[in-house]
Amino acid sequence: MSSTHFGFETVDESQKASRVRGVFDSVAGKYDVMNDLMSMGLHRLWKAYTIAASGVREGHKVLDIAGGTGDLALAFAKRVGPRGTVVHTDINEAMLSTGRDRLINEGVMLPTTICDAEHLPFPEGSFDIVTVAFGLRNMTHKDQALKEMCRVLKPGGRLLVLEFSKVAKPLEKAYDFYSFNILPKIGKLVANDEESYRYLAESIRMHPDQATLKSMMKDAGFGHVDVHNMTGGVVALHMGLKC
Ligand SMILES: C[S@@+](CC[C@H](N)C(=O)[O-])C[C@H]1O[C@@H](n2cnc3c(N)ncnc32)[C@H](O)[C@@H]1O
Repeated sequence: MSSTHFGFETVDESQKASRVRGVFDSVAGKYDVMNDLMSMGLHRLWKAYTIAASGVREGHKVLDIAGGTGDLALAFAKRVGPRGTVVHTDINEAMLSTGRDRLINEGVMLPTTICDAEHLPFPEGSFDIVTVAFGLRNMTHKDQALKEMCRVLKPGGRLLVLEFSKVAKPLEKAYDFYSFNILPKIGKLVANDEESYRYLAESIRMHPDQATLKSMMKDAGFGHVDVHNMTGGVVALHMGLKC
């Protein structure tokens, strides 16, 4: 049997998805407030940049993978207009239903589907844009998920992967101190969940850096991949073009 990482732990591949599910079942209720606190609101700017860079237009068909509480799905829905479609998906029911309730409260009803990014239930060439924000890191077979994202895109379509990445050297010490000493304490204080936020810090360190993810996207079938670092590499946006 093959092994993989769950944070710094080595686990059997068959266990990773259920361990990840445990994390997001636990954090779903406090996810949005924790996002604002942990990133000091920066996640809103990172997401706004992603939407601006996506080239989304009225009438586009957009798939939001690992969409969670729906930040990107909501923003895209406003841009594609009534002729377009945004499909809001996630593997986790607690995250997806928290997001769906939030979207309904904002007056937006979207097709919402539980699905695993590694086995997308959509035909080839269905979407103009596919997005995955802070989700890829949690997937067991990232290469398989990237291939699926490429498959469901139309030729000329774009994948946008927004994810934590490798910070610039001068930021490393301060970022490590924040991640391993402060972040889990905020998690304990606000969400009564230190472990999930320790997993967050560890999973970021185990995630492929900018160059590695770029080459994984090329291997998955993307003809061209651009990388945009944000906040000194704390986060990177990888944009893949299906040629
Ligand atoms: C950190 S949240 C990101 C939520 C949202 N995209 C955002 O940016 O706020 C990560 C999400 O990835 C989802 N996820 C993890 N593994 C997945 C998989 N294999 N397929 C689809 N979603 C997955 C989790 O359930 C969780 O909702």
